[in-house]
Amino acid sequence: MRTPDDGYLGAEDGRLMVVVEDETAGFVSYRSGSFDGKTKYWEIGIALLPEYRGRGIGWRAQAMLTDYLFEHTPVVRIQAATHPENVAEQKSLEKAGFRLEGVIRACEFRAGNYRDGYLYSRLRDDPGPIVGNGSVTGPVDGEPGGPSAY
Ligand SMILES: CC(C)(COP(=O)(O)OP(=O)(O)OC[C@H]1O[C@@H](n2cnc3c(N)ncnc32)[C@H](O)[C@@H]1OP(=O)(O)O)[C@@H](O)C(=O)NCCC(=O)NCCS
Repeated sequence: MRTPDDGYLGAEDGRLMVVVEDETAGFVSYRSGSFDGKTKYWEIGIALLPEYRGRGIGWRAQAMLTDYLFEHTPVVRIQAATHPENVAEQKSLEKAGFRLEGVIRACEFRAGNYRDGYLYSRLRDDPGPIVGNGSVTGPVDGEPGGPSAY
């Protein structure tokens, strides 16, 4: 269970577990960033355990995290970066409504080499896939379908 108290749902970053039929399949993460020092965006990430990859879980988890962040925070931009060879993540992001913005050249030094990154984003008004019931957290209390309606 992740709560604001244990720091997993923080104001500047957070992590949520991806759960499939009560089993942990991996996690998604988000952290804040800003290009101008005042306008905030989120950068999201994901890692699934090998046995849960390639089953349509990754794009859905990223789409649900994106919906959650747009639903609960006022940002208009959510971004994600991946490596040129990570086709699974590129396709997964595109299925989650993200668009390729460009190549971030030599953005990472790893294993003795500088590596490029592909930067993707989804803006609040960009079309996204329908996952779940349209609200990640479900109906709001007091609204039709909300807890007090029963
Ligand atoms: C990257 C990752 C999140 C993708 O999630 P996933 O559940 O495996 O992918 P999905 O099943 O949602 O598939 C999404 C699309 O990618 C395609 N895809 C999945 N695995 C693929 C692979 N290995 N190669 C090529 N395409 C692949 C799927 O076919 C699907 O496209 P389609 O609908 O056109 O067929 C997951 O594989 C993972 O956690 N990998 C290891 C960690 C990682 O790379 N994280 C991202 C770091 S930037």
